[in-house]
Amino acid sequence: MGPNNNLTGVGIIGTGSYVPEKIMTNEDLEKLVDTSDEWITKRTGIKERRILDKDKATSHMVIEAGKKAMEDAKISPEDVDAIIVTTVTPDMAFPSTACIAQEKLGCVNASAFDLEAACSGFIYGLSVAYGYISSNMYNNVLVVSADALSRITDWTDRGTCVLFGDGAGAAIISRVPENKGILSLDIGADGSGAGYLELPAGGSKNPATMETVNNKMHYLKMEGNEVFKFAVRKMNEASRKVIKEAGLELEDIDFLVPHQANIRIINSSRKKLKLDKDKVYVNLDKYGNMSSASIPVALDEAIKSNKIKKGDNVILVGFGGGLTWGSCLIRL
Ligand code: ACO
Repeated sequence: MGPNNNLTGVGIIGTGSYVPEKIMTNEDLEKLVDTSDEWITKRTGIKERRILDKDKATSHMVIEAGKKAMEDAKISPEDVDAIIVTTVTPDMAFPSTACIAQEKLGCVNASAFDLEAACSGFIYGLSVAYGYISSNMYNNVLVVSADALSRITDWTDRGTCVLFGDGAGAAIISRVPENKGILSLDIGADGSGAGYLELPAGGSKNPATMETVNNKMHYLKMEGNEVFKFAVRKMNEASRKVIKEAGLELEDIDFLVPHQANIRIINSSRKKLKLDKDKVYVNLDKYGNMSSASIPVALDEAIKSNKIKKGDNVILVGFGGGLTWGSCLIRL
């Protein structure tokens, strides 16, 4: 969205989240690859992550998180006008995971589609929901960000397999009183960095063959250092942009809910925004990087544990494959 400090009146009226029960610890990973709890903790801050059961798919997590968000918002499934699922790990290429979940959620009046913006997916989803509500096309939009990165992780690659986990976070976007809700929002992309984070095969470029499977091309590949540098720069730039666009100052910010990729990236953002440690929500020690689910799961936990209070100015900010980024200043 362009420079604008007049985006109020659309916001989040309910949140929900879900993580699988199965826990994989750093000690478990020590048995799979040449790594250590000490390295993972020091370089990333992650201690354990959740893994989706083999007999379940991403839609299972969408349904669980989506139900909770509807309950929290006190709306019935029939009241949902659109379901947007953000994911890089859909149940299958098509139909969309949103359509698969729509039936089980009972959202019979909802349009449904998937949106792919990697870890920035939740902010991208919010921006679409914002457009629907502010144009009066819809009243209630369910955005669910869900990823099962364990399904596309190369469990022999220590450079990536220690980083990720599975989960889902959801929010209902609706009309809220003026001066509340989304104050400003920024999304962006830089396709010149597309090769830094990718799943090379399984699409139209490299359809699945014996060769793609043997060459491990169905697993996530990442240039960690490049993504790290991009993340540190973009988290700061994108946060400052939404503060400015909302006509606010750094000291007006009460709380930060960042993408949960690496504690060093989060600490760098927190320090640049001059926020104390208790003003940022961190759960990557428990869950690792859940891709687009990280921000909404963290937001849900921060609200439910009263870390975020009514009226707080909160920054949601993330980055991911694409490369993409997104930030939102929201008053809850
Ligand atoms: N255990 C032990 N040693 C390891 C491990 C491991 N799991 N992984 C790498 N190493 C080694 C490397 O081989 C290297 O060894 P060398 O010096 O002998 O060559 C050394 O540790 C340092 O490796 P670096 O890659 O330089 O480590 P770095 O400090 O950069 O940390 C990390 C790597 C954690 C991946 C970091 O770069 C990072 O967090 N990047 C951002 C990644 C990210 O945010 N990705 C998600 C994007 S969101 C999405 O869309 C999914």
